[in-house]
Amino acid sequence: MTSTNNLRRIGQTDLFVTPVAMGCWPITGITSVNVTKADSLATLQAAADAGINFFDSAYIYGYEGESERMIAEALGHRRSELVIATKCGLEWGPDKKQRRDARPETIRRQCDESLQRLKTDVIDLYYLHAPDPDTPVAESAGAIRELLDAGKIRAAGVSNFTQIEHYEQFHAVCPISADQPHYNMLQREIEQERLPWCRAHGVSVMVYWPLMKGFLAGKLTRDHQWDPKDGRQKYPVFVGEEWTKTHDFLDKLRPIAANAGRTLAQLAVAWTVQQPGITAALCGAKRPEQIRETAAAMDWILSDAELAAVRKAIDERGEVLSRAAVT
Ligand SMILES: NC(=O)c1ccc[n+]([C@@H]2O[C@H](COP(=O)([O-])OP(=O)(O)OC[C@H]3O[C@@H](n4cnc5c(N)ncnc54)[C@H](OP(=O)(O)O)[C@@H]3O)[C@@H](O)[C@H]2O)c1
Repeated sequence: MTSTNNLRRIGQTDLFVTPVAMGCWPITGITSVNVTKADSLATLQAAADAGINFFDSAYIYGYEGESERMIAEALGHRRSELVIATKCGLEWGPDKKQRRDARPETIRRQCDESLQRLKTDVIDLYYLHAPDPDTPVAESAGAIRELLDAGKIRAAGVSNFTQIEHYEQFHAVCPISADQPHYNMLQREIEQERLPWCRAHGVSVMVYWPLMKGFLAGKLTRDHQWDPKDGRQKYPVFVGEEWTKTHDFLDKLRPIAANAGRTLAQLAVAWTVQQPGITAALCGAKRPEQIRETAAAMDWILSDAELAAVRKAIDERGEVLSRAAVT
């Protein structure tokens, strides 16, 4: 087996990324608590220093695009080393609620704004963040295809697609190089249809929530008191019986990580990027020590015995109530 430390190719492009990417949503502080700009800039720098070359942002990461701006501020001087992904097709309304808008004119405007915020001439990977029910997928794809042809982006991707026909419609107009669904040890719905479709079409799969929004890092205790601003408590998996069952699951993982001299977060991430068809895990972080910890998962290849022990714990945990959220 090749080392997961090796760079992995995005689709059929000449872009190569580390299997651990830094997810740049938590640094906006919109749903995470205790986020400061100084910590966020330091976290971005720590990610690059730890060997991560892949950074995942979006037009809506920050009410004023703060995530993209901080990537430029912290890492602009290292631009040539980085593969920067960002996304279009979502906007903040005046009520600070997200709304979908993937009309071609919106995509063109958002791309230009993201290029300015990132202080770059080209976006490496540009995703449609989510399909817009009021705009045919082929029209959104057409606008992204134009950006490819104009050299404003290097590769196109999709995110939060749930229907195979949407993938087909997009791909017929604009080649999909990467998909971005959620996926982790306990939320594996994509294994049914979407992951096989991507594998069959040579599409890379960059997964969000590898740590299940931090839960699989194992640092939230059973009696954790949620801060009212912490967005995680709205997910069914973080409350009631599900919370207890998932803590029981973590207790089964702890010895597997400990026997290898690793942490739970590293086990969750190393397992994720070792699954067939998964190209990269997008690991959110808001402090340097968090991203250093997850980056260190890149050099751990789980043995067959470790994989089997994780599989047993997953099977015993049973199905998890899941609900995707777009961030
Ligand atoms: N396409 C989409 O619609 C979509 C949706 C969601 C996410 N994403 C992308 O995927 C990325 C990952 O998702 P995410 O950030 O929501 O979730 P995640 O990576 O599963 O979890 C990130 C959170 O886990 C905690 N954490 C991280 N490393 C840790 C460590 N070593 N020890 C303990 N806790 C640790 C931190 O939260 P605390 O410190 O607060 O516990 C951090 O904010 C995002 O940043 C974004 O780039 C995309």
